[in-house]
Amino acid sequence: MTMIFIGKLMMSSVIDVNSGIDIPGFKIHQCDAMSLLKETLSNSIDLVITDPPYESLEKYRSIGTTTRLKNSQSSSNQWFDIFPDDNFEELFIELYRVLKKNSHFYLFCDQETAFKVKSIAENVGFKFWKPLIWDKMKMGMGYHYRARYEFILFFEKGKRKINDLSIPDILSFSRVYKGYPTEKPVELMEVLIRQSSLPGEKVCDPFMGSGAVGRASLKNARHFLGGDISSDAYQLSLSNLKNETFELLGK
Ligand SMILES: C[S@@+](CC[C@H](N)C(=O)[O-])C[C@H]1O[C@@H](n2cnc3c(N)ncnc32)[C@H](O)[C@@H]1O
Repeated sequence: MTMIFIGKLMMSSVIDVNSGIDIPGFKIHQCDAMSLLKETLSNSIDLVITDPPYESLEKYRSIGTTTRLKNSQSSSNQWFDIFPDDNFEELFIELYRVLKKNSHFYLFCDQETAFKVKSIAENVGFKFWKPLIWDKMKMGMGYHYRARYEFILFFEKGKRKINDLSIPDILSFSRVYKGYPTEKPVELMEVLIRQSSLPGEKVCDPFMGSGAVGRASLKNARHFLGGDISSDAYQLSLSNLKNETFELLGK
């Protein structure tokens, strides 16, 4: 477990991010998403943005349409474990519990997973608003219309306004090349964070990968609580979040 706070309390290792102190910082764990959430207090998180390794990713990888996700000699990245579709209900129940009453939840997924999980999330209490589109601005792999976008399902617990009504539902940011497998652009995460939280609030990503949500949280003065089951992802996030912290301190 790692905790770092920016500012006077940066060296502290005893202050818990759950204490509500409004100094942006992060707390990350190498652990299963369900364990992280089960240990998180009810009604303690202001925003969840997450990108689980859904089952259909593995299907496309195995038939070779997502070649950039394969392990390769030129990449040190290992492909990660898949989160089974059958586990989404338990995940959503926990996310609903840890989120504060009026809050938002964004889920990255493809169309196949979107159709499966929408009703599961609604059944546990979330209101589904709409799918946002992440436009990657360049075509990827595929046989039946080559892939250029990904869904970001936009859910709500209770009622919370988005902060800027002028933002469109198609968000265009180039994909990250040669990064962690399926790494998302930090700038894309920053849009979601600015729309659905305020400085000092707490953002959670239990499948953090490279820590893109965490980096975007720190850049926008939000606290970050993250986890990933993989040791490589944990180490990468730790390094990325520390670098982000040092850059912010240098400003
Ligand atoms: C799609 S990637 C996330 C990529 C991330 N959004 C980024 O921008 O780098 C999914 C991550 O979930 C992790 N993972 C897989 N199963 C998990 C589980 N049961 N609990 C927590 N993390 C898990 C993988 O190790 C992987 O890093």
